[in-house]
Amino acid sequence: MKNEQERTGAETAELHVGGKPMRLVLEEPTAGDRGINIGRLRSETGLVTYDPGLANTASCRSAITYLDGENGVLMHRGYAIEDLAANCVFLEVALLLITGTLPNREERKQFTLLMNKNSMLHEGMIQFFDNYPENSHPMAILSAMVVSLSSFYPEIARFNGDLPLDETVTNLLSKMRTIAAFSYKKSIGEPFVYPSHKLYYCENFLNMMFSSPVADYQIDPVVEATLNKFLILHADHEQNASTTVVRGVGSSGTNLYASVAAGISSLWGPLHGGANQAVIGMLEDIRDSGKSIAQVVLQAKDRSNPFRLMGFGHRVYKTYDPRARIAKQTCRDLLTHLGISSDPLLDIAMELEETALADDYFREKKLYPNVDFYTGITYRAMGIPTNMFTVMFALGRLPGWIAHWLEMHNDPEQKLVRPRQIYVGQKPRPFVPIDERS
Ligand code: SDX
Repeated sequence: MKNEQERTGAETAELHVGGKPMRLVLEEPTAGDRGINIGRLRSETGLVTYDPGLANTASCRSAITYLDGENGVLMHRGYAIEDLAANCVFLEVALLLITGTLPNREERKQFTLLMNKNSMLHEGMIQFFDNYPENSHPMAILSAMVVSLSSFYPEIARFNGDLPLDETVTNLLSKMRTIAAFSYKKSIGEPFVYPSHKLYYCENFLNMMFSSPVADYQIDPVVEATLNKFLILHADHEQNASTTVVRGVGSSGTNLYASVAAGISSLWGPLHGGANQAVIGMLEDIRDSGKSIAQVVLQAKDRSNPFRLMGFGHRVYKTYDPRARIAKQTCRDLLTHLGISSDPLLDIAMELEETALADDYFREKKLYPNVDFYTGITYRAMGIPTNMFTVMFALGRLPGWIAHWLEMHNDPEQKLVRPRQIYVGQKPRPFVPIDERS
């Protein structure tokens, strides 16, 4: 019988189990890691692989985003993040991720019209906000509201990635932005500002956040451009934790809105999207405690201490996160534009970066600033409160989640996510009736 290589012509890896060789086909990528296809491993050897955190495991083939963690490369559908951040608005990148191509002017105009058409929330949903306590975290509201969209827009339940893609997608992209702004207004006890058909995506968000009946709000074009850029920087990042959750939840047949609601919950954690909020907390603590930067770095290196430098380190990037580089420069440009000659938190952040990057511990472990390190300082300068930072991350990541959910749905090889385990529990033991238990 022809072996795997002869049959497919693909290169293979050889695994020896119990003295018996097994050839496994290597998956060939466009770029980046090659993979050993272990689809037959258990059936032919009875073995499974063990890989906590799936750090060495490809869960799918994907054509959306490519990261080269060793060289600090990030591409969406083949375009470098630097080019997209410098030349696009967020909706263009959202369409690029979801459809695979950058829109032309007409396509962008049509999508903008759809975004406006779908920007209002069902009035029945607006009452939900009345029942949340004042101090509710906006990520809790966001996740609950997004899953509730499937009750108010039941056609989503039948959506499996076919048309009308535009309606379903713009409904989610547009309404999540409205929910985010409304949750902010709720938290400060101000009346909701409804979306306007006269404004583009970021202008609308800023207006819904900061306009009020008693003050004339002028949208600052530099703030709007900065917001566009920051949403682009967060738009997608291959198989990160929350995207893996969106794909996993969607793999059971759950609708797009409920899958995204699960992704929002995953993003909330301080090791993932919640880090941008944790960075500001860390910088404020350093400022208020008077701790020296050297003391903080020492604390971060102490393995017996759970403290870590938030906004530092990354599972994939083992060099400077290209998004952090753009975010740092954009942050400084915005502060200059706003006439903020010095921001104590930015000064602390930059000294922290300089000290850490000169330290052997960080250099040996290849720990660099990631996308979350400078974003909080920028959002704060825009007037966005700290507890909204991870919501901003979610607004940016939404097109990436949608693109991956669609790709998963349209991949003939994708199936229900159900990993195996290495069982380390009790061996079989006799049952003990309750009266005989100690
Ligand atoms: C995002 O996956 C993505 O793409 C995510 C993201 C996206 O766009 O979706 O890029 C967004 O989530 C960015 C990361 C945001 N999180 C943080 O900034 C939190 C702080 N960073 C860490 O907790 C950590 O770096 C992780 C969670 C981000 C990554 O950790 P890993 O890959 O699981 O690595 P690890 O925890 O095993 O750390 C390896 C070593 C350890 O030391 P040893 O046990 O080997 O002695 O590095 C140390 C860690 O203690 N380390 C740190 C550190 N991060 C790792 N030490 C101090 N400070 C840190 N921040």
